Amino acid sequence: MQKEQAGVFLLDLGTGNLAGRVISVLRTAWPVDSLGPQVKTVLHIVGARPNFMKVAPIHRAIRGRGRLSQRLVHTGQHYDAQMSDVFFEDLGLPPPDLHLGVGSGSHAEQTGKVMVELERVFAADRPDLVSVVGDVNSTVAAAMVAAKACIPFAHVEAGLRSFDRAMPEEVNRVVTDRLADLLLTPSRDADENLAREGTDPKRVHRVGNVMIDSLFASRERALALPTLARLGLTAGRFAVCTLHRPSNVDDPKVLKGLLEALDFVSAQVPVVFPVHPRTRKTMAAEGLAPLVAALKDVRRVEPMGYLEFLSLTAQAMLILTDSGGLQEESTALGVPCLTLRENTERPVTVDEGTNLVVGTDPARIKAEAAKILAGKGKAGRVPELWDGRAAERIAEVYEQFLET
Ligand code: UD1
Repeated sequence: MQKEQAGVFLLDLGTGNLAGRVISVLRTAWPVDSLGPQVKTVLHIVGARPNFMKVAPIHRAIRGRGRLSQRLVHTGQHYDAQMSDVFFEDLGLPPPDLHLGVGSGSHAEQTGKVMVELERVFAADRPDLVSVVGDVNSTVAAAMVAAKACIPFAHVEAGLRSFDRAMPEEVNRVVTDRLADLLLTPSRDADENLAREGTDPKRVHRVGNVMIDSLFASRERALALPTLARLGLTAGRFAVCTLHRPSNVDDPKVLKGLLEALDFVSAQVPVVFPVHPRTRKTMAAEGLAPLVAALKDVRRVEPMGYLEFLSLTAQAMLILTDSGGLQEESTALGVPCLTLRENTERPVTVDEGTNLVVGTDPARIKAEAAKILAGKGKAGRVPELWDGRAAERIAEVYEQFLET
């Protein structure tokens, strides 16, 4: 189905094979955002929840500067309204010019489907630059297709390494960076990783953390929301938890230990726990159901939109998470964070910020949480170039690359 909204043709194509229709619609629909035949075009690829807050400021910066044309393709890796649509609304990101409707699947299925669709999109549209962000399957799929089509591509959030190849995102990061023409990094450690891997330094640009652009631009609006009142919470007297890494939530034994630690925290302060669909499946399994039912004050809620969730994290006493983005957001907000993983690809949040990597042993998590609840949490500072202006620097790098 094709519909027109705000002058842009949108595709609502479900999950079928789309390629033929995509190409024919592209030809008619896409010139609407063009600034003229000689203006170069950036094609942004987004797919999953953590991509949206990274692309929104870049899209806004490019639009504000008015020197490049741009289009936005959503692969459909995340598709639930609460995992996708709400972020577009909260972040002021215009609806995608094209939605590929790829959906869930194994790593190979999901990556492969995105590749097949994007190959046809790139062939029809021939953008001057493809822009990818983060480390999800849609990121690496777009990177491989752009590289083989000989279309230059930029990777925003380049250079992060957990040095743990069992983590799917680490594979995505390594492959994407190896192929990228422009590597936009958030921190010095990322530059060092790329140098160690032999990346040409001329391709590397330290621009800072673009996700923190979204956070600073949205904080006041988020704080004005009535989320705390709705959930019966007091500012500074509750914890927030998110869990979705396969290594934590696919194995019921690991998840059980983490839930025990949350239960311990909830004896002292309420724990708000927006449950990711992947985590929900394991929690509903028979072995865990009795433990879940007996949790003290762990408030399981649906995944939240960007602003509502930010209103919580900005006012929390403690964040417990296995998310990469939330480690960075807690550092920017100055809220103590316990990372429930054995490693992090974001060491600056530990070296300079409020983050502590504590692993998944419930005893260790409880001990560190107890310190924070007693007011002895780690203080930190906001890292260099996490200043709300990363997207402007990215747009400038893109302009220089395309105009020379
Ligand atoms: C993906 C990213 C991960 C990112 C996370 C944020 C990869 C390899 N992983 O993990 O880096 O931190 O997104 O959420 O790209 N599902 C729904 N509705 C949706 C999306 C997913 O119900 O809108 C369910 C499906 O059952 C799906 C499962 O969640 O199989 C996992 O989704 P998937 O996109 O494969 O990976 P995430 O765990 O979300």
